[in-house]
Amino acid sequence: MSDAPSTPSSPKSMDAIMALCKRRGFIYQASEIYGGINGFWDYGPLGAQMKKNLRDAWWQDMVMRPAWGRAGPGGQRVRCVPVETCIIQNPKVWEASGHLAGFADPMRKCPGCGHFVRADQYWETMAQWSEWLNSMIQGFETHTGKFDTETLLRWAKTKGKRAAPNLALVRNPEATLVALATRINGQPNVPPDLQELVRYLGTEQIAQTGLQEPCPRCGAPLGQPAPFKLMFETWSGITQSDDNKVYLRPETAQGVFVQFKNVADTTRVKMPFGIGNTGKSFRNEVTPRNYTYRSREFEQAELEFFCHPSESVEWYQFWRDFRMDWWKSIGLAGENLILREHAKDELSHYSQGTSDVEYRFPFTSPGFGELEGIAHRGDYDLKQHQEHSKVKLEYNDTERGEVLPNGGRRGERYLPHCIEPAAGLDRGVLALICEAYTKDDTRASPEFLKLHPRIAPIKAAVFPLMGKDGMPEVAEKLHTELNDKFWRLGAIELDEKQNIGKRYARMDEAGCPFCFTIDQDTLKDQTVTMRDRDTGGQQRMGLDKVAGFVGERLGSG
Ligand code: GAP
Repeated sequence: MSDAPSTPSSPKSMDAIMALCKRRGFIYQASEIYGGINGFWDYGPLGAQMKKNLRDAWWQDMVMRPAWGRAGPGGQRVRCVPVETCIIQNPKVWEASGHLAGFADPMRKCPGCGHFVRADQYWETMAQWSEWLNSMIQGFETHTGKFDTETLLRWAKTKGKRAAPNLALVRNPEATLVALATRINGQPNVPPDLQELVRYLGTEQIAQTGLQEPCPRCGAPLGQPAPFKLMFETWSGITQSDDNKVYLRPETAQGVFVQFKNVADTTRVKMPFGIGNTGKSFRNEVTPRNYTYRSREFEQAELEFFCHPSESVEWYQFWRDFRMDWWKSIGLAGENLILREHAKDELSHYSQGTSDVEYRFPFTSPGFGELEGIAHRGDYDLKQHQEHSKVKLEYNDTERGEVLPNGGRRGERYLPHCIEPAAGLDRGVLALICEAYTKDDTRASPEFLKLHPRIAPIKAAVFPLMGKDGMPEVAEKLHTELNDKFWRLGAIELDEKQNIGKRYARMDEAGCPFCFTIDQDTLKDQTVTMRDRDTGGQQRMGLDKVAGFVGERLGSG
């Protein structure tokens, strides 16, 4: 997660967003009646349709009509095809990809409370999650604004006892503060910064252990980093032995690399071309958190775009820019979306560039969290699979190489480079809901979702104002007409219950962009009231114009 370049308005409440998602059937805790299961989430009726709409939008704009028909570098046509590959692959796939050896986070275990902390995110975790650190800092701020031993001692003997029972400062304040005082007096011109202070406060016997880093939960000194395997393991076959061990895929991308040759040999695709793959991936995340943001089961939508090495940097830039435009087109416009180019020292050795599309989630604010990574992967993956499988994966490009006397080309064999836009659909749904969530206490629906019509699970609703005088029949007819036309894109609701304000409010919360009301005038002049979710504004239109109006806004004539 990265820091904000600008100051945002105060973040929306995640509790309110999660409550709405539950109340309206977007997202439920998996296995909720059994107390749930950490890191797993289910989608309810509205969430499942919304996620399908996002997946369909990705499929349409990345595979069927890639990049909206934009021309690629040098005016080239962008061509992509789909695959659907297995969650369980031959374990050699993960050996070759490096996941078996390298897909492990360095973790530090707390001997006091058993909590695990990712070693590379220690300070970030402290700042965001450590209740005792925040309580201690508040103590300084309300007192002198600076830390002093008196305030620390008071905190250790009061709030600290409950908040951080295993912290050295709490267990043995005298010894801890003596060591701190020695440090301050030894270098009076260089006062310790917060990180150094925290290390001193977490250390009881500095001479024996050196400075230690305390657990964000209970304050005990954390153990040394050790790798924690992120891939879920199971067995294929009856015997549960190491010979039968298999893994649930941690990404959809490898399924594409191992089918690259089949796709190139059995279809008429020509370089450059992309292969898209969507589906579930699994990572045994150490600390699943922030709702669906870091889950153990999640869905990815990845495109592996293969091209000649000489054109790869231009294709990388092409996809990076398109992906940013795409997220904007479905509702993430504004100051909450950034494209962050990785610094040179963040890149893998084979990469000539990686950028993340990042969104300012309420829980990352004022910072941003990754929504999608766009990576220049060079020929790393194909090379790895070629070496491990001993199958030649080079592409025979008959349109390259020197021109022959007959006007044809000699051809060129090469391992293509790959540009990979890798998006997460669960993070996508979450970002779209967070962005759409709007609070306005002056409305009958004080909370509503301004979802883009393309993504909204309910596309339109039809209401008879009253259950008499032929209104229900006209509403039913309009509902059938809209449903027959738009069912492929999402739901059309027919709601006959409660007063009209409550019906609007229900649809607003569900993110339905347009409501059509049949009233007495409809029976006289064949017009209906169209009410817009975002402005609350109303306009009259002919019954025969409704389908055209909805179709135009959904981009479907
Ligand atoms: N093939 C490259 C790859 O998998 P990644 O950055 O690890 O790259 C791509 O994952 C996207 O998948 C992320 O940008 C994110 O949207 C999503 N993702 C990764 N881990 C996730 C998790 N634990 N929970 C939800 N989404 C996740």
